[in-house]
Amino acid sequence: MIQSNLGIKDLTLSVLGLGHVGLPTALGFAELGWNVIGADDDLDKTRMLSLGQTPFYEPGIKGLLDKHLESGRFKVATDSATAVKESDVLFVCVGTPQSEDGSADLSQVENAARTVAQNTNGYKLIVEKSTNPVSTAENVKMTISQYLDTDHQVEVAVNPEFLREGRALEDFFNPDRIVIGVESERAKDLLFRIYEPLINNINQNGESANQGEVSPYMSGQKIVVTDLNTAELIKHSSNAFLAMKVSFINMVSDLCESAGADVNDVAIGLGMDPRIGPDFLRAGVGFGGYCLPKDLKAFIRIAKDNCVDESLLEAIEMINDQRVDRFVSKLALLLDGLAGRKLAVWGLAFKPETDDVRDAPSIKIVQRLLEHGASVILYDPQATDQFMESFQGSTEKISCASSALDAAVGAEAVLLLCEWEEFKLVDLEELRSRVDGRVVLDGRNFLDKKLISEMGFSYYGMGR
Ligand code: UDX
Repeated sequence: MIQSNLGIKDLTLSVLGLGHVGLPTALGFAELGWNVIGADDDLDKTRMLSLGQTPFYEPGIKGLLDKHLESGRFKVATDSATAVKESDVLFVCVGTPQSEDGSADLSQVENAARTVAQNTNGYKLIVEKSTNPVSTAENVKMTISQYLDTDHQVEVAVNPEFLREGRALEDFFNPDRIVIGVESERAKDLLFRIYEPLINNINQNGESANQGEVSPYMSGQKIVVTDLNTAELIKHSSNAFLAMKVSFINMVSDLCESAGADVNDVAIGLGMDPRIGPDFLRAGVGFGGYCLPKDLKAFIRIAKDNCVDESLLEAIEMINDQRVDRFVSKLALLLDGLAGRKLAVWGLAFKPETDDVRDAPSIKIVQRLLEHGASVILYDPQATDQFMESFQGSTEKISCASSALDAAVGAEAVLLLCEWEEFKLVDLEELRSRVDGRVVLDGRNFLDKKLISEMGFSYYGMGR
């Protein structure tokens, strides 16, 4: 409950929305020592969590869930109103799905704001953590003033998440920056207290600590303290820039295809420039997932709404959308048509170490292969069930295997769409004895081209 002098451990936090952002955030805060109440409108999800079951695969999440259900520092509320009443700082981690026009659907954010306003019983700080378009926080403030029927103060702050799926906890405990958008000393102070263990951690890396001043950059601490709109734009710009790097290297890979060069080596040469950096320069079938594609679309919308030329952003999206056709056309050329072909597909998740297939390139690629009359045998270490649950259209020419080698039985080509480490360890002699054709089309430029070619396969990548 509320204390007049909110000391380090007097705070109770709540996390509204227990998905890929909310659950790691809630358990991360519990691990830092905070009492955390989690709430979600999906009662199946909250029931599963109360029983210690995780609704999705994320390395380390099950261990932390067990630990903090046991420690009592993580509790699952039956509803968001209860969470509001029993906490001081509320992190809004609800989904911001894509609307028809590409803009972010903020209805869940609005609902969370209304729930806080209608159930507040004292000072509350709502912290926007999901990726939201700039000025969302301003709109949340308006929603609160509309529904607030007490004189208690409800403040809004922005603290965007930079978690990557498959490394969410790693990113939570080792942030390369903490961005805080606030409008008062009180809100800043609360967030500094909440993140103090991490800020200390950042300090332990030899960064100087000067928590006193509020400035756009806390020198040396990698803490950005700024206003609400700026904090929202930092997040959106980050994801759009990452998407731009991927589309840039994919454009270069198209050049490599026609000019005869190896895009992996181009990326190495590029990435050695510290101004460019080696990350997000892996060419392949493009970026997917619940973040980059929809955040880029939302950013395009934001640019249009603010009369800023969106052509750069649209080019990023266009290059990414072209990946599916380039991959499928390349395969059709290699196999002299796809009708009646039997194809092994290795990797369905949008990236390794997750079972998430949302907006994964595999969905469109498999759809296209079936449209061309091929049959597919699918294998993914984690994501096969999710893929089959979310796949639209006929599945009569889809079968699922329990291993990479099983998927290859009778296959005329092996297609790699997600770079799970285990695909590098497949016994190539065993593989050769199972396939009917020798084509390996590596959609993530992940496998060892030289080794596979030496084992009698015809290896093809994207831009190499
Ligand atoms: C992203 C941002 O990285 C993270 O900071 C933000 O908080 C949420 O969105 P995530 O969506 O989990 O994280 O995945 P990420 O690791 O960024 O990969 C996104 C997509 O880009 C994946 O489909 C991946 O395969 C693809 N990708 C990534 C490439 O195609 N090439 C690369 O070099 C890197």
